[in-house]
Amino acid sequence: MSADGLLDGRVAVVMGGGGGMGLASVSGLLAEGASVLLGDFDVEVGQAATDELAETFGDKVIFQQVDVTHTDQIDVAIQRVVDIWGGIDVLVNVVGINISKPIEEITNEDFQKVAETDLRGTFAAIRAVVPVMKERGGGSIVSIGSVHGEVGYGDHHLYTMAKAGINGMTKELAFTYGPDRIRLNVVSPGYITPPHTPEKIAKKLKPEALEEFWREWAPLYPVGDAFTQPLRYACNPEDVANVVVFLASDKSRFVTGDVIHVDGGLIASFFRYAGRPDYVKAAKETQARWDEWYEANKLEEE
Ligand SMILES: NC(=O)c1ccc[n+]([C@@H]2O[C@H](COP(=O)([O-])OP(=O)(O)OC[C@H]3O[C@@H](n4cnc5c(N)ncnc54)[C@H](O)[C@@H]3O)[C@@H](O)[C@H]2O)c1
Repeated sequence: MSADGLLDGRVAVVMGGGGGMGLASVSGLLAEGASVLLGDFDVEVGQAATDELAETFGDKVIFQQVDVTHTDQIDVAIQRVVDIWGGIDVLVNVVGINISKPIEEITNEDFQKVAETDLRGTFAAIRAVVPVMKERGGGSIVSIGSVHGEVGYGDHHLYTMAKAGINGMTKELAFTYGPDRIRLNVVSPGYITPPHTPEKIAKKLKPEALEEFWREWAPLYPVGDAFTQPLRYACNPEDVANVVVFLASDKSRFVTGDVIHVDGGLIASFFRYAGRPDYVKAAKETQARWDEWYEANKLEEE
């Protein structure tokens, strides 16, 4: 990401900042000049990421342990940022979990866990930050949704419910708080290459196969699904973060209440299975080639 100072002097909070898209967003916001609180419930991951970023960005990045299912912890984090930096211009909600099961196996506890994490966690962070942004004269709130908020996949019932809810609350809140110059948008990813997965896979492969893996297969991971996106690869967390930074900045000052897809055209190709048998054929062939290659190149103990 090129650094143009798009966010010089701005203050941002990223909930779930220790993971793939969260950390990429924190890095992108810092690179554009913002001060950032990285919130995450995983202290080890969050603190290590913050320490590494602090080597470049100094005290412009701080860590706070936040479990978004405990809304009081969100309030504490928001207040801490106000106390340190005097206000908040940008909130990025990244936390999201999926429990995928047939409906008759979904327990009330499952329902509660996904609803409290994905839906109420996002809502509570927005609730905490809106008065701060009103006081500041405006702000930008970006929530990470999913294509599953709009189309079915199979057994993603709770996830779809939550992500559709995030789209809905974003539109309603954008309507209500537009006059306060608070913009709210959703970034809706398709299949993203998880940052750690290729490394984990690489650990499973023979050393002589690693170079070919990174060159040929990593951009396609997860192979079958990624290949059904019209661009025919899975994108990186940084591709999502680039759009988060755009939405956080004044470059998007007339964009609000929107759901922006970073999905390689997935949503645009609704009938990809039924209408485009070549996609299915290509995806199946690629999957078969991967299966064969992996079998030949995996480490014996795996
Ligand atoms: N990975 C994909 O292909 C994909 C596709 C579409 C949408 N998404 C959505 O993108 C978002 C980020 O996905 P990712 O793959 O970067 O996730 P990730 O698992 O890499 O990161 C999530 C981060 O959130 C933290 N976290 C989890 N529960 C938390 C809680 N209760 N409180 C605070 N922190 C918590 C984790 O510790 C982790 O650091 C999620 O909302 C996910 O639903 C992911």
